[in-house]
Amino acid sequence: MSDNLVVIGTQWGDEGKGKIVDWLTEQFAAVVRFQGGHNAGHTLVIQGEKTVLHLIPSGILRPQVRCLIGNGVVLSLSALMEELETLEQAGIATAGRLQVSSACNLILPYHIALDEARERALGQQAIGTTGRGIGPCYEDKVARRGIRLYELLDEAHFSRRVQAVMAYHNTILQQVFGAEPLASQPVINAALAYRTRIEPLIADVPDELYRLSQAGQRILFEGAQGALLDIDHGTYPYVTSSNTLSGAAASGSGLGPRALHYVLGIVKAYTTRVGSGPFPTELNDAVGQYLGERGHEFGATTGRKRRCGWLDIVALRRSLQLNSVSGLCITKLDVLDGLEVLKLCVAYRYQDQELTTPPLDGRQFTVCEPVYEELPGWSDSTAGITCYADLPAAARAYLTRIAELCNTPLAVISTGPDRADTLVLDPQLARAAD
Ligand code: GDP
Ligand code: IMO
Ligand code: MG
Repeated sequence: MSDNLVVIGTQWGDEGKGKIVDWLTEQFAAVVRFQGGHNAGHTLVIQGEKTVLHLIPSGILRPQVRCLIGNGVVLSLSALMEELETLEQAGIATAGRLQVSSACNLILPYHIALDEARERALGQQAIGTTGRGIGPCYEDKVARRGIRLYELLDEAHFSRRVQAVMAYHNTILQQVFGAEPLASQPVINAALAYRTRIEPLIADVPDELYRLSQAGQRILFEGAQGALLDIDHGTYPYVTSSNTLSGAAASGSGLGPRALHYVLGIVKAYTTRVGSGPFPTELNDAVGQYLGERGHEFGATTGRKRRCGWLDIVALRRSLQLNSVSGLCITKLDVLDGLEVLKLCVAYRYQDQELTTPPLDGRQFTVCEPVYEELPGWSDSTAGITCYADLPAAARAYLTRIAELCNTPLAVISTGPDRADTLVLDPQLARAAD
């Protein structure tokens, strides 16, 4: 297949996107991130060795793959440099393979101060952000006062811009939040100190992607977060501040929508959520604990415990529509091993109605109760199985029921964290060698 592919999360993030991107990139020339920032935590495991990536695309462990950070990403220079150093210490050569769009908006220390101040002020209503300054940076972008990567290359201009923007934000920090203002000179100096290291990485990403496309090279678009955290279509206001949907791959990278050929929707076999917000199928019982423990459900970015619950087909159906998903990739099937009964949420009860699509009003979402369909579980281990026929019959029945309820075909199943623990059902995604 010579097509491009978009990998997106269909739930509230942490579906296993990183693992699948790394697995797939063997077949691709380039991987591009198109939204989010270092709020993401994408975990890759290769022969037992774990790597967690936040900003750098999950193709970096394949020496032949180019990695690009698109304009839709909000960029922390310190986080990027730290990640590059960690990779280099682990013996992974990144030189000449990573390029960053000159149009990325920079996350600077005042964005973090604002993120923290806003969360503090919200108290009980806090979003539970990752505290990385993501929201305030996107706010600056939309308000047209954001500072872009290319501005760093003109020192005098950069200094003036930071001073002006910080004068504005310091007023807000002090007068709205009663917080301490930040001095601008250390912010300017710290950013400029990265200039020599970032300059060689700066690229015209839209043009690079266009050239790759013209040369018949395949591109993989790596989503971060998940559809239910999308700023427009997610569980607002308990969302992140970017468009996380497949459509954003075009605007956030600079390649047009006709270049997005296949959308792989990553679906965890159950549901998790980090941070606040509605979660109708959340389990605060022994089963929830079982999922959390077997699935090691702790955030890859903040280490926070993830909330766990049954798979929510109602929310998932909406995600699949929003993303025009071509095929489903069900991950963490092995985590369900040993459960006697499995439940799928097939409708929501809202007051005296039964809803099969989630409400648009976030306040209604909060009070929706799940309506479950029960399926038998399995006691055999599915861990590491790479052939569909080898899965227990009950596991196959669970998967086919999901596909049926979603009206979307199964494409890939993941049965463990390692790159190798993966089975392919859609021949379009199988390696030529398989
Ligand atoms: P991402 O943000 O979507 O890339 O997902 P994260 O990396 O934050 O979280 C997924 C977690 O599940 C990581 O610890 C992965 O190593 C792990 N994982 C991914 N796929 C599987 C799987 O099929 N089975 C198991 N047991 N773990 C998995
Ligand atoms: P990956 O790519 C899970 C959540 C935060 C919070 C909300 C807003 O690893 O799937 P933000 O810092 O973005 O303003 O926080 O979004 N969140 C994620 N949850 N996985 C992620 O990324 C997330 N990135 C942000 O927990 O609820
Ligand atoms: Mg994650």
